[in-house]
Amino acid sequence: MAQPTVPSVIMDSMVTDESGEPNPYLLGVYAPVRDEVTAENLQVIGEIPADLNGVYLRNGPNARFPVRGRYHWFDGDGMVHAVHFENGRARYRNRYVRTKAFQAETDRSLWTGVMENRKGNPFGNTRGLNLKDSANTDLVYHRGKVLATWYLCGSPYQLDPLSLETLGVETFLDTLTGDFMAHPKVDERTGELFWFDYGPRPPYLRYGVVGAGGAVEHCVELELPGARLPHDMSITENHAILMDLPLYQDLEAARQGRYKLTFNRELPSRFGVIPRRGTAEQIRWFEARPCYIYHVVNSWESGDEIILDVCRVSRPAPKGDGGPLAAMISYLKLDARLYRYRFNLVTGQTSEGYVDGDHNTEFPTIDARLTGRPSRYSYNVSVMDADTNLFDGLVKYDNVTGAKQEHYYGDHRYGSEAPFAPRDGSTGEDDGYLVTFVTDEREGTSEVQILGAADLTQGPVARVLLPQRVPLGFHATWVRADQYRTAS
Ligand SMILES: [Fe+2]
Repeated sequence: MAQPTVPSVIMDSMVTDESGEPNPYLLGVYAPVRDEVTAENLQVIGEIPADLNGVYLRNGPNARFPVRGRYHWFDGDGMVHAVHFENGRARYRNRYVRTKAFQAETDRSLWTGVMENRKGNPFGNTRGLNLKDSANTDLVYHRGKVLATWYLCGSPYQLDPLSLETLGVETFLDTLTGDFMAHPKVDERTGELFWFDYGPRPPYLRYGVVGAGGAVEHCVELELPGARLPHDMSITENHAILMDLPLYQDLEAARQGRYKLTFNRELPSRFGVIPRRGTAEQIRWFEARPCYIYHVVNSWESGDEIILDVCRVSRPAPKGDGGPLAAMISYLKLDARLYRYRFNLVTGQTSEGYVDGDHNTEFPTIDARLTGRPSRYSYNVSVMDADTNLFDGLVKYDNVTGAKQEHYYGDHRYGSEAPFAPRDGSTGEDDGYLVTFVTDEREGTSEVQILGAADLTQGPVARVLLPQRVPLGFHATWVRADQYRTAS
C-alpha cells in the first residue's frame, strides 16, 4: 500500500534549488518520487524465467524535502528500489534508507549539500566531514544483510534484502572504527569483506578485512602523499588493490569552505598492491598514466602478473564554467573507457592499455561469484552522449575474444546498473540473466527488463511494468534466493 512520505506541495517546489536555475538532477528522469510503495501482481510482458529467483536492488538519491542551497546529484537521500522474483512472479517495493540523518530530518532539510558551505550542518561522518551520510550509493550483500553505503565514506546501513527495512548501522560486532567506503568487495569463497576508508586528514587511507565471522580482523593505515578521493578498490585471490589517483580536493578552496576538485596531470596514478592481510610496509605501488577511476571491473592473478580491468576516465577535469551548476554537471558526466592494467610482481613494471577505446561505458558488473578470480565477461552500461548521465543501453564485453554485444532501450528510455543474476543451477559464468530498471522519459514510467546474459542482442525475455517511475540512480546488486534462504 502506498505511504505518502512527502506532501505534494513540497514536491512541486523541488524542480529548482536555491541557485535559481532549474536543476537537471531534480527534473524528469531524475526527479525524486514521493511515495514508498509495495506492489504485487505486476503486469509482465513476456515471461519471467522460472529459474530466476532472487532480488534486484538499486540504490540512488531521492531528495525527500526541498533542498538547501545548490543541489548536487550525490546529495539526495538514499532510496532503494527492489524487485523480488520468485517462481515466475515479481514484487516491487521502494524504501528510504533510514539513516541517522534521515531520522533527524522530520519536516525539512537540515543539511546543505556538497556544493555549499557545510558549517551549520548538524553532524557528519566520524572523520568530521560535515555532510549528510545518506547511504545513497551502493548495495552490497554480506552475511544475510544488504549494506547500503555512501560515496564519501559513512556508516554501512543494514537492510533486510526483501522488506528493505533499515536494521541499523552495521558495526561488524562492534569492531568497525572509522568510516566505510561505497564499494567494498566480498569474496564469496572465503566469506570475507574488504573495504577502506579515507578522509581529509591523516591517516588518509585505512584498509581492512572483515572475516567470515563478521568481525573486523585486519585493519592498517596506509600512507598517501595527501588527501585523495578513491572511489573503488579490487581484490585478487591473495591481494587487495588500492588507488592513489591525482584527482583531489583543492586545499585552498577547502580552507575557504568551498568544494573544488583539482586534477594534477603532473602526478602518476598509483596502484597499491597489498597482501590481503598485509602490513603497511608490504604494500607495493605501481605507477601508471594519470587518470581517474570510479569503478573497477575485476582483478585476478595470472602468473607473475596481476590483471586489473577498470573503467578509466582520462580527462576528469570539467570543461569550463557557465553558471552556478555548470561545474557540477560537467564533473558528474561520466566519460570512461574499458581499460586493462598489468602489474608485474617480479619486475615491478606496469603495462596498460584500452580494451575498448571508443565506447563510453561505465557501471560495470560481473558474475559476483568470480570477484578476485579470472572473469571473462563484463556487463557495462552505455553512457549516452548528453549533458547529464543517461544510460541508453548495455554493453557486454568478452575479454577473451574481444567481442562485444550491445542492447539499447530505445529513444528516451534509460537504464540502471545491471547486475548479473545467475539462474538456478547456473553452471558457470554468463549462465544467467542481467536485470535492470528502464525508465521512459516521455511516459514517466518504469519497468524491469530481464535479459539473457549469454546473448544481449536478443532483447529482454521479460519486461515487468512497475507502479511508479524509478528515478535514475547509482548502484545495484543481485541477491540470490539461496543466499537469503541460507541466512534466515
Ligand atoms: Fe560508484
